[in-house]
Amino acid sequence: MKLWASRFHSDISKETLDYTETVDIDKRMIRSDLWASLAHVLMLCHQRIVPMQDGRALVKCLLRMFDDSESGRLRLDRALEDVHLNIEAELIRQLGLEIGGKVHTARSRNDQVVTDTRIYIREEIIKLCEQVLRFGLDLIGKAREHGETLMLGRTHSQPAQPISYAFWLTSYSSILLRDAERLLNAYTTVNKNPLGACALAGTSFPIDRQITTRLLGFDQVLLHALDATSSRDFMIETAATLAILMSNISRLCEEVVCYSGFEHAAFDVGDSFATGSSIMPQKRNPVVAELARARSAVVYGSLFELLTVVKGVSLGYSCDLQQDKPPLWRALDTTKATLSILNSQVLAIKYDPYRAKQGCWNTFCTATELANHIVQEGNMSFREAYDIVGRTVKELVNESRTLADAERVKELLMLNGVEIGIDQIEHVTDPGRVLMRQQSPGGTGPKAVVEIVRAVSSDLTHLLENCREKSAAVRTSLDCTLRIAGEFINGHELFALLAY
Ligand code: ARG
Repeated sequence: MKLWASRFHSDISKETLDYTETVDIDKRMIRSDLWASLAHVLMLCHQRIVPMQDGRALVKCLLRMFDDSESGRLRLDRALEDVHLNIEAELIRQLGLEIGGKVHTARSRNDQVVTDTRIYIREEIIKLCEQVLRFGLDLIGKAREHGETLMLGRTHSQPAQPISYAFWLTSYSSILLRDAERLLNAYTTVNKNPLGACALAGTSFPIDRQITTRLLGFDQVLLHALDATSSRDFMIETAATLAILMSNISRLCEEVVCYSGFEHAAFDVGDSFATGSSIMPQKRNPVVAELARARSAVVYGSLFELLTVVKGVSLGYSCDLQQDKPPLWRALDTTKATLSILNSQVLAIKYDPYRAKQGCWNTFCTATELANHIVQEGNMSFREAYDIVGRTVKELVNESRTLADAERVKELLMLNGVEIGIDQIEHVTDPGRVLMRQQSPGGTGPKAVVEIVRAVSSDLTHLLENCREKSAAVRTSLDCTLRIAGEFINGHELFALLAY
């Protein structure tokens, strides 16, 4: 029997059930639903809406179900549509309609489902945020050994200027720091309590929404009942944050794919992150990075699915909104798995500084520094120096030479009226030495990178601490609810218990 059957003449068809039920999707929210139900019943008793005796029976059952859910013994029945009706039906099965039927006083599935979702995703957000921060710190750990390791920096995907491998690695730490900040902002949006909004309009029962807010570890009440039950922007914001994160990740993947190519051969992605070709024996394809790059599509798709599900749905719950969880779950799972494997992939990359050095010498990437030197030594404007070096590079390319040919560079500069000694030329065209000179704040010079490492790792560590505090607070709220519930069924006075 459906809990709502009384108004109906007949049951739904199997096809309708298959089309509408969400048990498989809701499974993840069992614990959240039980926790929220415990908090709700404790509040109902505290407010004398439900008699203590009945409340104790409900809480006892809910606690047992909580244990069963932990050990995987709590099974949900598809025929009961969703997690909420499953849990209510189980209470009624065990306690009868007279007592079990009291759990749903001053509550609706409409406030229940958003409460459960918020409880579930806030933990996922924090776990993801910790993953992002640890990834950022791992990159920094790797960077510490590579402050003077040359890498060819690019713009337009073309050789541009020498940078250090540490500079490249820490650029992604700096990016991931922002992703973590965005996740924590999403957490703030998510961690508000919609419970007590009921179906859409609140209730005539004298509920206390502060009690459930505290027990459930929410930062504050989400006050407006119609907004609380109708809005899904907290889910959209979370998915958008994940989409931005995946966009950043896809750029890292692109660089891994590109730099592990034979032409650059600066990165070796490692055998455990590559697969071979079925026909070309020489191939080793960086498939992990390729797939991770493509998985951004899954998360963008999820974001668009969510946006489209919610678009144009009038306020007040509509079943359209039930379609919100599959894309969000998918976005969370995909991002989590991608971060995990990519973190391992990047840590495993073997870097070949020799190839990078060759690349730097062969690609005129110190031409800018040669121009800078002419500005400083030759009392010339930058544009004049730029033109002279431009002409010099054009001629060297014609002659199939590089800036490594200091004698020829000297002659060509002389033709343009610039006189520089051979050792000075060698000094300002050597990629390794040029790297050492780029010491402006935020630049690639080793001292500047030490400063970047200090600033970014301090921020990452600070946010990691912030995440730990948040998950500890959530855990404490759950422990507190379970303890109060346990003491309540053992006969302790609820008013004293809830006055903590
Ligand atoms: N399973 C529903 C969902 O996921 C819960 C809310 C259902 N409310 C309703 N009035 N049918 O959105």
